[in-house]
Amino acid sequence: MLWIAIIITCLEFITLAKAKDFYQADANIIELSPSNFDDVVHRTNYTTLIEFYAPWCGYCQQIKGTMKNVGRVLDGLVQVAAVNCDESINKNLCAQHRVSGFPTLMVFRPPKVNLDIPYNERVGSSYHASELYSGERQLKPIVDFALSRVKNYVKKLNKIERLTEAVTSGRSQFAMVLFSKKDKVPTVYRSIAVDWLGVLDAYLIWNRKLDSISNIDIEKLPRISAFLQEVKSKADGDNSLLVVFDRENDNYQVYEGDSFNKTEVAKFLVAFGSANEGPYTRRDKFLSSLKSISKKQKKAPRKGKKASVIDQDEL
Ligand SMILES: *[C@@H]1O[C@H](CO)[C@@H](O)[C@H](O)[C@H]1NC(C)=O
Ligand SMILES: *[C@@H]1O[C@H](CO)[C@@H](O)[C@H](O)[C@H]1NC(C)=O
Repeated sequence: MLWIAIIITCLEFITLAKAKDFYQADANIIELSPSNFDDVVHRTNYTTLIEFYAPWCGYCQQIKGTMKNVGRVLDGLVQVAAVNCDESINKNLCAQHRVSGFPTLMVFRPPKVNLDIPYNERVGSSYHASELYSGERQLKPIVDFALSRVKNYVKKLNKIERLTEAVTSGRSQFAMVLFSKKDKVPTVYRSIAVDWLGVLDAYLIWNRKLDSISNIDIEKLPRISAFLQEVKSKADGDNSLLVVFDRENDNYQVYEGDSFNKTEVAKFLVAFGSANEGPYTRRDKFLSSLKSISKKQKKAPRKGKKASVIDQDEL
């Protein structure tokens, strides 16, 4: 009996100690420690926003709610993590990153991958560069800052000729093209390009550039040509259209999902190759295992609540 009592006491102690971490129960923020820091932050092509904090600090308590919203808005776009510098096990980590006040917000940026150089000849560190965030401690400026540090691997095609080239040749068998209602790479699409980096070539063309598209006639690609001649009827000012072109087999497939939702798009793209990161990958499972609540149980933000002031579609 005594043994059981001791074990129960220990368990309670562990639970109490854990509860001191601010984001232990958050589905979008990863609490980091020396055992997972490098795997989460450096072994990825994603950007990571990290809050170094101490639970007793008043400013940290104030920013906690904002950070939870930041995590929700950036879900799938930028990794959001936290380090509890009050935990003795984390003290070195905080010292190493020269954290001298709380909260300290930092962004860790991945190095740009040069796909033109073969994988085993790429030199340079794969370590991410860190950068201090010293802006306002509000949702929008923090989100904007983090997103501005995401690498863009989507090539913008500003002429029909470039589109013809893109569907004709490239690094991989497949070209994914977003016929876009806006002349701007949506953040979700940027993150999709990161997930399939080196697997699918990612392009965007603004629908307004499609004026002379009906004249397209690419030798050896009659089916793709026919599709492109018609694409304007589907992709116009209000509609974006995602299409994957198979350059080798003169084929194409259109994404039919209702929304440009990362999870849904991933389901569609899996048919063309395995992503390195993102939904349905081992990496995603690993990250989920570090968050205490699984995604499935995650509560959707209530309408009208502060959490939904930024919609991913707007980013
Ligand atoms: C980043 O993407 C490239 C291209 O797919 C890949 O070779 C590399 O391993 C990725 N880096 C990391 C750290 O996952
Ligand atoms: C995307 O779709 C899935 C269902 O397939 C849903 O669970 C998820 O909440 C959606 N995400 C967004 C950001 O709308």
